Amino acid sequence: MSRGTLIDLIYLFSATTFLVALKGLGSPKRARYGNAVAAFGMLVAIVATFFKYVDGHALHHVWLILLAMFIGTIIAVPTARFVEMTAMPQLVAIFNGVGGGAASLVSITEFVHIKSTNPATYVTLEVLLGVLIGTVSFAGSAIAFAKLQELMTGRPVTYPGQQIINAIVGVVALALIVTILVQGSTLLLWVLLIVAFVLGVAFVLPIGGADVPVLISLLNAFTGLAVAASGFTLGSNLLIVAGTLVGASGILLTRLMSKAMGRSLSNVLFSAFGSNITATGASSVEGRSVRSGSPEDIGVLLGFASKVVIIPGYGLAVAQAQHVLRELADELEGKGVEVFYAIHPVAGRMPGHMNVLLAEANVPYEDLLEMDEANSELATADVALVVGANDTVNPAATNDPASPIYGMPIIHADLAENVIFLKRSMRPGFAGIDNELLYNPKTLLVFGDAKDTLTKVVAVVKAS
Ligand code: TAP
Repeated sequence: MSRGTLIDLIYLFSATTFLVALKGLGSPKRARYGNAVAAFGMLVAIVATFFKYVDGHALHHVWLILLAMFIGTIIAVPTARFVEMTAMPQLVAIFNGVGGGAASLVSITEFVHIKSTNPATYVTLEVLLGVLIGTVSFAGSAIAFAKLQELMTGRPVTYPGQQIINAIVGVVALALIVTILVQGSTLLLWVLLIVAFVLGVAFVLPIGGADVPVLISLLNAFTGLAVAASGFTLGSNLLIVAGTLVGASGILLTRLMSKAMGRSLSNVLFSAFGSNITATGASSVEGRSVRSGSPEDIGVLLGFASKVVIIPGYGLAVAQAQHVLRELADELEGKGVEVFYAIHPVAGRMPGHMNVLLAEANVPYEDLLEMDEANSELATADVALVVGANDTVNPAATNDPASPIYGMPIIHADLAENVIFLKRSMRPGFAGIDNELLYNPKTLLVFGDAKDTLTKVVAVVKAS
């Protein structure tokens, strides 16, 4: 067997590990295993690449490549290791951005490399698409990072005629690609690079900070496509497969997230959602009364329940109350209470946010229920304990066609016999809208930071 065939077989093995990994990532229980399988497949592919012959020659500049890998590793490993869970979206944004940037640089180098060989039009087109998509992904991810890291406003940045201007920039980029295909001008390639950069920035500016996780998933898909384009350019089947997998799964994830938010993708990308939400919101609550209670009240209520469904949301992450929540669940289970956690697919601010938080507190996977399953348990639950969730339990999503979240599937906390909300104030959640469930006579509100409240509730339950 020739060296080339052997390396292709190794690449095939790596591509298979990526598929196995994706399957593993589909469930919280197997996600770590999935990640490890993909990392192993990638390592094998990288090692094999060092033994590859390119144009009949062994790999050049091996020491430079190793140096670049070393620098990348010493930056990436501690960053990923020590990042706060709440800062994970911006880490993904920046890692995704450098992936897009790398794909773009590969395409630029290849353009210069193939220019003198009079390449077929489709080859140049692949290269130019790699430059365009990779640069858009790089610039867009950099702005997404700046928004999430609060280096700039997280609010949508809008100005008159914005979408028309963006469309014009997009058309200019496509016109440049056509012109370069005809003329082969390297100067225009640099102009394309700048225009693609402007397009990436302009595309992301009107997207509100809290919609950015959906955007990152889309930019991730773009990076995948840019990598696949590089794969065509370099004649690497593995890059084509890996890039296409990232592109396809990124697009699927983006669609799933928009659907779970009850919004179309175009609404997420182009509606500047959040630009009209006031800082305090909820002016409509004036003059309406709610039933509020103390940690002691809910400690007693929970102690007498036989089935409790906990509904965590963004506030759980803000309060970092996952450990004390687990402690409460353990105490209740010790007293014979059945306890489940109801997980909404877009609770929190990033995909799998609640799963990750609860995994941090070693909550058993079997106790986590997906939305539909949770809703059937809620119908027979004594208490729905809503910890820092709001939009994901707002009945307006089902009852009020005029609501901005109408159509979003929700967790029906309202089905339980009693509903307890742990939150600090009457402020709304991400969507900036009032929640009718807060005024329902069967709802009890306990105001305060979720961690403080839960700590007091645990003490009450322990003492009872
Ligand atoms: P939200 O509707 O955002 O509500 C969070 C609640 O937590 C608020 O009511 C807030 O009230 C409370 N809170 C904040 N800090 C707290 C603390 N320290 N202690 C106690 N409570 C606290 O949360 P959700 O139900 O998880 O919904 C998520 C929203 O984000 C949805 O609208 C979803 O579409 C959107 N979104 C999600 C994603 C992903 S991928 N997950 C991406 C983009 C957007 P107080 O301020 O009164 O405490």
